[in-house]
Amino acid sequence: MARTMASLAVSIALLLCLLSPTCRAATRSGGNKPPRAVMLPVRKDAATGQYVTTFRQRTPLVPVTAVLDLASPTVWVDCEKRYASSTYRGLPCESKLCRLTGSGSCATACYGKPGPSCLNNTCSGLPQNTATSVSTSGNIITDVLALPTTPRQGPLATAPAFLFTCGATFLTKGLAAGATGMASLSRNRFALPAQLANTFRLPRTKFALCLPSTPSSAAPSVGAVIGDAPHVFQPGVDLSGSLAYTPLLVNPVSGLTHFQGDKSDEYFIGVSGVKVNGRAVPLNATLLAVNKKTGNGGAKLSTAAPYTVLETSIYRAVTAAFAAATAGIPRAPAVAPFKLCYDGSKVGSTRVGPAVPNIELVLGNSKGAPSWVVFGANSMVAARGGALCLAVVDGGKAPTTSVVIGGHMLEDNLLEFDLDRSRLGFSSSLLFRQTNCNNFHISGSQL
Ligand SMILES: *[C@@H]1O[C@H](CO)[C@@H](O)[C@H](O)[C@H]1NC(C)=O
Ligand SMILES: *[C@@H]1O[C@H](CO)[C@@H](O)[C@H](O)[C@H]1NC(C)=O
Repeated sequence: MARTMASLAVSIALLLCLLSPTCRAATRSGGNKPPRAVMLPVRKDAATGQYVTTFRQRTPLVPVTAVLDLASPTVWVDCEKRYASSTYRGLPCESKLCRLTGSGSCATACYGKPGPSCLNNTCSGLPQNTATSVSTSGNIITDVLALPTTPRQGPLATAPAFLFTCGATFLTKGLAAGATGMASLSRNRFALPAQLANTFRLPRTKFALCLPSTPSSAAPSVGAVIGDAPHVFQPGVDLSGSLAYTPLLVNPVSGLTHFQGDKSDEYFIGVSGVKVNGRAVPLNATLLAVNKKTGNGGAKLSTAAPYTVLETSIYRAVTAAFAAATAGIPRAPAVAPFKLCYDGSKVGSTRVGPAVPNIELVLGNSKGAPSWVVFGANSMVAARGGALCLAVVDGGKAPTTSVVIGGHMLEDNLLEFDLDRSRLGFSSSLLFRQTNCNNFHISGSQL
C-alpha cells in the first residue's frame, strides 16, 4: 500500500513536472549535478551610484548588463534594440504561467516585424524603471538565462526558459551606462531568487546581497549569491554564523504600477523606532507601520534609492537629534539634497567611517529586539567642497513608504534575504571586521 502511494506520488510529481514549462526547463538543462547556488557579480556605477550586474542570456548567449533592483516583479530587458536570439518564446495569454504572473492584459496581435517585442497572443506585463519611476507595458517572454555557479565564472547553470518582461529602449533612460534592463531580486515568484530556486531546485529560496561602496577597479565582486552558500569574505572572514535576524514583512499593497490587487514584491522590515547616540528619537509610530488597507507607511529596503529617504516629520526629528548629538562639530553649508553638513576636515575617522554618533534602527517591539546599527561609513557622505553630510533626504509629507532604506546605508553590510523563513539576516558594517563587499568571494570548493 505504502509502495503504491509512493509510486502514485512520483507519477503525480512527474505529471505536474511535464505540465510545467519551468520544470521541463530544469530537467532539460542536462546531466550535470544541480548547482547549490548561482552568482550575480555586482559593481557600483560611479556616475549613477547604481549597482550593476551582468548575466548571460539568449541563443547564442550574450552578456546583458542590468541594474539590480529589489522591487520589480520580474527581470526586464530592452527587447527592441539588438535583441537577437533563436530561443525566445512569448508566453501565451491563456497559459497557466501567464495567469501566475498576475498579468491583467494580453497583446493579441502585432503587425510589425516579428521579434520579442512583436508577438501575437502574448501575455503582457508592466516593466518599470524603479530608478526613474517610469513604466510601460511589454511582452512577457522566456529565453535562455545562464549564470555562473562559482565566483570565478566556473561552470554556467543554464535555465532554458527563464521568464522575464520586455522593456523598451526608452525605459532604459536613467540607468547606468551600458545597462539595458533591471535584474530583480524581489520576492515575486518570477524574480531571480524564486524563479532560479525553482528552475535549479536550489536547496533554499534565499539570497545573500553585499553591495560594494566603491567602484572596484578589479573584477566585480560577487554581489548576490542566490541559493545556499557560506558567506566567506577574503581574507578568510566567515560570517555565516554571525548575522542578526529580523522578520521580512509583506506589504499587502504594491507601490509600483501594477494590476489590481497585487501585493507588494518589496522587502519591508519592522522598524519600530530610531535611536541617535543610544537615545530614542520621538517619532509618529503610525507612520512606521504599514497601513494594511492603503499600503502606506512602514520601512523598506531599496537599491533604487541611492540614499535613505524619510517622511518629513521623521526626517526632521532624526536630523534634529543628530544635529544635537554633533553640536561640537563645525558645520558646513548644506549641499543638496542634504541639509545637515559638516566641515569634513573637522570630523575624525574610525575603522567604520567618519567619527559621528551611531544611528540605530530598532527592529520590532519585543524586549531585546535587535537594532541595525548604522555607523559613519553608512550614515555620512562626502559632498562638494570637503563637506561631510548626513546621508538622508526628506521624502515629503505624504510619501507612500515612510522609511526607504537606500543603497548607501546598505553598502558593505552583508544581507541575507531568506524567503523560505521570511527573515532578513544582517551583519552591520563589515568594516568592523576589516573587510568589505569588494572582498565577497566564495571559493568554488565550498559549493
Ligand atoms: C499576427 O497575426 C496576424 C494575423 O494572422 C499576422 O498578419 C501577423 O503577421 C502576426 N504577427 C506576428 C508577429 O507573427
Ligand atoms: C501620525 O501620522 C498619522 C498618519 O500620517 C497621522 O494621521 C497622525 O495625525 C499623526 N499623529 C501625530 C501625533 O502627528
